[in-house]
Amino acid sequence: MASTEAIDVMPIDADQCEAVWPLSVEAGWNQNVADWRFMLGAGRGFGCSGAGGKWQASALVLPLGRQLAWISMVLVTRERRRGGLGTALLKHCIDEVTSAGAVAGLDATEQGRPIYLPLGFRDLYKISRWHVDRVQHAVLPPPAGTRLRPGVPADLPRLALYDRPLTGMERPAILAHLALRQPGRAWIAEDAAGKISGFVLGREGRAATSLGPVVADSEAIALPLIAKAAASAPGPFIIDVPEAHRAVRAWLEAQGAITPRDYMRMTLGEAERLDDPSHVFALAGPELG
Ligand SMILES: CC(C)(COP(=O)(O)OP(=O)(O)OC[C@H]1O[C@@H](n2cnc3c(N)ncnc32)[C@H](O)[C@@H]1OP(=O)(O)O)[C@@H](O)C(=O)NCCC(=O)NCCS
Repeated sequence: MASTEAIDVMPIDADQCEAVWPLSVEAGWNQNVADWRFMLGAGRGFGCSGAGGKWQASALVLPLGRQLAWISMVLVTRERRRGGLGTALLKHCIDEVTSAGAVAGLDATEQGRPIYLPLGFRDLYKISRWHVDRVQHAVLPPPAGTRLRPGVPADLPRLALYDRPLTGMERPAILAHLALRQPGRAWIAEDAAGKISGFVLGREGRAATSLGPVVADSEAIALPLIAKAAASAPGPFIIDVPEAHRAVRAWLEAQGAITPRDYMRMTLGEAERLDDPSHVFALAGPELG
C-alpha cells in the first residue's frame, strides 16, 4: 500500500463547496453544490490540494447521533490515484470518528471497498443503485387502513422519532434539510389514528432527482410511497435500494429501470440496527446514510 506519511490533510469548510464540487463531477456522481454545502456544514470535510490550491482529494465525516458517524465523499482526482491520498483521508476520518467514541459506517463503491477492507471495515449488506427515466405505473394503492399525504414541516419531529429505531441513525438535520429542499417529494404514510407508518423524501441532483430515504413499516407501504414521490415531478430518478427488497426491485424493473452499480454497506465496529435493512427501502444516499 502507498505511503501516507507526507500527505497534508486540510479541513474543507462549507464555503469551499463550489471549489470541491468538481471532484464529484469528475467521478460522475450526482451531488450538486447544495449537497456539498449541506454536508460540509452538518459534518466535517477534509481534503488535499495541489498546485494553485485546487482540491485533489476529499473525504467527509457526517455525525448520525453520538454513537454513529458516516464517512463519505471519498474522492481522489484521477491523476492522483494510487498515491495513498484515499487511504490517508480515510485514516484521518476514522481517527475523528473513533476519538469521539463513535462507530464509522459507509456505503462503499467497488473502487472504495478495496481500501476499506484492510482498514478493518466489514460488509453488512448490498445495495443497488437504480436509474429510472420515467415512472409508468405511478398509482399504487397503499394497504387498507393506510393513507398517503404530503409531508409538511410540522411532521419533522415525529419523522425523526419514527426513523431512528428503524434505521439506527439519529439524523433530524438531514431529514429536515431534505424535506425542506424539495417539499414536493416528501410523502408520509399514516394509519387511521394518524400514526406514521412510512415516509419518503427526495432532492434534486446534478444529473437526476434522488429519491430517498424511504423508511416504512412494510414493503406494501414503501412501494406506494416511492411511486407517489416519483410521480410528483418528471424524471430521471436515482434510488438506492437494499438488495433484500425484491418487490421494490421487481417494480423498478417494470418501470424499465437499470442498475449501473452496487454499493456495500460497511461498518467499523458494531452499531445497533445498522446491519438490518428490513425497514430501509431506500438510502438517503450513500453520502448521507
Ligand atoms: C477509491 C479512491 C478514493 C481510492 O483513492 P486512492 O488515493 O487511489 O487510494 P490509495 O492510493 O490510498 O489506495 C490504497 C490501496 O487501495 C487499493 N486500491 C485502490 N484503488 C484500487 C483499485 N482501483 N483496484 C484495486 N485496488 C485498489 C490498493 O491496495 C491501494 O494500494 P496500492 O496502490 O499500494 O496497491 C479513488 O479510486 C476514487 O476516487 N475513485 C472514484 C470514487 C470512488 O469510488 N470513491 C470511493 C467511494 S466509497
